[in-house]
Amino acid sequence: MRVEIFADHAAMSQAAAHFIKKAALQAVGARGSFCLALAGGSTPLNTYRLLGHDPEFPWADTQVFWGDERCVPPDNPESNRGAGMKALGSPEALPSDNIHPIRGQLSPQEAAQDYQWRLKGFFADQGRPAFDLVILGLGPDGHVASLFPGSPGLSKGNAWVLPVAAPTHLEPQVPRVSLTLWSINQAQQVLLMAGGAAKAPVVARLRQGRDPELPAARVQPQGEMFLYLDRAAAGD
Ligand code: 6PG
Repeated sequence: MRVEIFADHAAMSQAAAHFIKKAALQAVGARGSFCLALAGGSTPLNTYRLLGHDPEFPWADTQVFWGDERCVPPDNPESNRGAGMKALGSPEALPSDNIHPIRGQLSPQEAAQDYQWRLKGFFADQGRPAFDLVILGLGPDGHVASLFPGSPGLSKGNAWVLPVAAPTHLEPQVPRVSLTLWSINQAQQVLLMAGGAAKAPVVARLRQGRDPELPAARVQPQGEMFLYLDRAAAGD
């Protein structure tokens, strides 16, 4: 895992946008498309704003997915799709056919089945969710996507996507849909972002590497894993 520490959230967001754009241009140059799974939560929103307003970003050849979703309608403030698209600013160059949301307005079971079916169709040639890049945030309990400690989605199995019961230990306490750990680990690269002093304890647990059950510690993509922190989350 390659760790980069930045002075503050703004610097981390700038660096993350640069990283994502570089990955996009490399993937499009090599294969003509870039498959990106966005994280929910608040940490990456400034990064999305920067990307959405970058005229050089190859949106026409980018396929946008999500790592997880809350089971709420897209216009609900808790919606990862809603917040993500608002932050991106729905770039004109991004065709609507390239946006593959998790349908949070469905029941968790239906939304998970629907998303898994669409992923299996999109990645039919590869036979696995071959994302070029998965962006993840880090929860205070070490969760990534909606893989909370002890989640069934952390254990082996052949599901690509699973419904997740509403957590009771953190907000929002709504049912979710999440990529499984196996799906996340099919990605070529993962960018995990954490900012703010509140994340310093879980970041320290992750970096010490003595907590194998921490969901974030189990993320091991096909290629490289990057951890982007601001100084506050790094405990500097
Ligand atoms: C979600 C996210 C979740 C998030 C972390 C960190 O649906 O809530 O996917 O995994 O990334 O909880 O959230 P913040 O970035 O808001 O701290």
